[in-house]
Amino acid sequence: MTAKPIALQELPADLDRSRLPNHVAVIMDGNGRWAKRKGRPRIIGHQKGVDALKNLLRCCRDWGIPALTAYAFSTENWGRPLEEVEFLMTLFERVLRRELQEMMAENVKIRFVGNLEELPKSLQSEIERSMHDTQNNSGIQFTIATNYGGRQEILQACQAIASKVEQGYLKVEEIDEALFERHLYTQGIVHPDLLIRTSGEMRISNFLLWQMAYAEIYVTQTLWPDFDRVEFHKALFAYQQRDRRFGKV
Ligand code: IPE
Ligand code: IPE
Ligand code: MG
Repeated sequence: MTAKPIALQELPADLDRSRLPNHVAVIMDGNGRWAKRKGRPRIIGHQKGVDALKNLLRCCRDWGIPALTAYAFSTENWGRPLEEVEFLMTLFERVLRRELQEMMAENVKIRFVGNLEELPKSLQSEIERSMHDTQNNSGIQFTIATNYGGRQEILQACQAIASKVEQGYLKVEEIDEALFERHLYTQGIVHPDLLIRTSGEMRISNFLLWQMAYAEIYVTQTLWPDFDRVEFHKALFAYQQRDRRFGKV
């Protein structure tokens, strides 16, 4: 069965409102290949990718999906050519400055996750401002993973917990899943139910390793800048066909 291709503001009729994911995570991959196919520099793909993300955020809001997390920059992405890294950092800053007012108006609650201290100072200020200004918003939870690595996130949680044990604030027996989660960047945000990766790659690339334990994975060949409402509809339709057993029968 395949989803009927319809692009609507309303939730498509073949989706069950009561079984929508509570949290969608996306690995926005394929910007560079998208640009290459058009004979353009990679950065044009990144620029187009921002539009795709804006549209997805709006679509989640329209269709009643309460949380969206997007992977914008991994701890491994520093290994790219300097000019691409610098372009991305400037792009993030520019987009945040440009879009904050609108996200406020749309009641979006923003959180950045990752090792933010390593980002350029001017980007850090925009990030802090966006999280501060939107902290009391009650609309969609929009999380952006920037300089994010799942291993790094788990390690920093271990270090924080070990240091509390060392200082006598915590006993080893008190370390359980709930406590561990409170030391992750994503503390307080429900785990993703659906992970979407564009561009056909079948891997997680160090994204939300802990949180993804029972996420349904959906991979599409579509490159990120082409990911639109029709594509998202297909992903949600596929998700609703899955039998989520969580280890049971
Ligand atoms: C994803 O697109 C965006 C980032 C990782 C920042 P890519 O830049 O990885 O595009 P491809 O995979 O090279 O096509
Ligand atoms: C994953 O994409 C990171 C982001 C989308 C930000 P990559 O393009 O960096 O992943 P790999 O290198 O194909 O695993
Ligand atoms: Mg890639």
